[in-house]
Amino acid sequence: MEPFIIPRDPQLGLRFLTARARRTAPAGPGTRHRLFWARNGIFHALRAFQVPAGARVLVPAYLCASAVEPILAYGAAVEFYAIRPDLRVDLDDLAARIGHDTKAVLAVHYFGFPQPMTDLRQLCDARGLWLLEDCAHVLTGEIDGRPLGTVGDASVFSLRKFLPLYDGAELRVNFDRPGFRIAWCRTTPLFALKVAKNLVEMTSGPLGRALRGRLSVGAWRDRLCSGGPTGDAHVLAMDTNSTSFDPAMVDMPMSAMCCFIADHSDVPAIVAQRRRNYHRLQRGLATTGAVAFALGELPTAVCPWILPVFFPGIEQAHLRLRARGIPAVTWGGVRPLGVSAAEFPAADFLYDRLVFLPIHQGLDDHGVDLMIETVRSVCREAATSAPSSRSVGAP
Ligand SMILES: Cc1ncc(COP(=O)(O)O)c(C=O)c1O
Repeated sequence: MEPFIIPRDPQLGLRFLTARARRTAPAGPGTRHRLFWARNGIFHALRAFQVPAGARVLVPAYLCASAVEPILAYGAAVEFYAIRPDLRVDLDDLAARIGHDTKAVLAVHYFGFPQPMTDLRQLCDARGLWLLEDCAHVLTGEIDGRPLGTVGDASVFSLRKFLPLYDGAELRVNFDRPGFRIAWCRTTPLFALKVAKNLVEMTSGPLGRALRGRLSVGAWRDRLCSGGPTGDAHVLAMDTNSTSFDPAMVDMPMSAMCCFIADHSDVPAIVAQRRRNYHRLQRGLATTGAVAFALGELPTAVCPWILPVFFPGIEQAHLRLRARGIPAVTWGGVRPLGVSAAEFPAADFLYDRLVFLPIHQGLDDHGVDLMIETVRSVCREAATSAPSSRSVGAP
């Protein structure tokens, strides 16, 4: 693992937990299904829609492969539609691609910022299409007075992107589909132990140190992977950070321990801390004069997942930041096959250039300021380096 100078993900600690259980899903009429991964929810949403095999599903050209693979695994065809450089759906391009065999549209609220759901709903209703709201980057939020995740016919959330969880996602089905159910696979005590071990590794403070001291990762792996019913080896070998769709995991429920943590997470406090970090980082980076922001001001109802930024003129900025201990990423490594750079220049640019900076609730002012200082020095270094490291701007 790279030695980061700030935490990559939020740690599990008492600060953002409450004694009383809360529900993180938006209020609404739908049925909630708690799943291991959000990508599995995309697969099951197509089942709920009863999309016929071979039908086309329209998905944004800027997307990670883990959201595309379940559609292909389901047996539908994927067609990409354009996303604008400001990360909004290109409604004209989307409408132009709807054909007789198109059955569903997937729309992503990138980084928690809402897409124009009223327009998307109208378009889908007018053309007889199912609308799947991808809320993988949403913890809470609303658009036109409606909670995100309630306008689409179904929506998927990836709770583990916001909360200190090993696994955790939700599918909401917002219409009545009698008989729709997920044939949950049976989890075993070994699986529960694997979840527990990973949660311990994510635990901060004295408790985490004490527990970790007693657990050697290698010894646990050996203990957990030896024996057990058939199927355990697969589940135990699986890595939740994988970005692939695994058909063997599609009916896996969210673990009981992660359900408990999600239900006892202090969502308002988490939202407040993320918004604070986002604002502080944005303000600090603005003073460097070397960073461009992909999105405008943070709307009041948005809980940001990350801060997306461009480094105009700096090649591979995320790798330079990682080399200095900042867990910056792009979607360059998870780009789905088949997104043509010539057809989708804006998406191509985003894969290459849009850098995600962490703003999670586990960061304090000191961590955010460290990030700002590191960005400043990376920009200074790039300014004095060879012209070959310079690059072009946005399309
Ligand atoms: C837009 C989007 N949708 C779906 C997913 C899949 O989420 P999960 O990792 O919970 O399967 C991701 C994962 O990064 C994502 O970014």
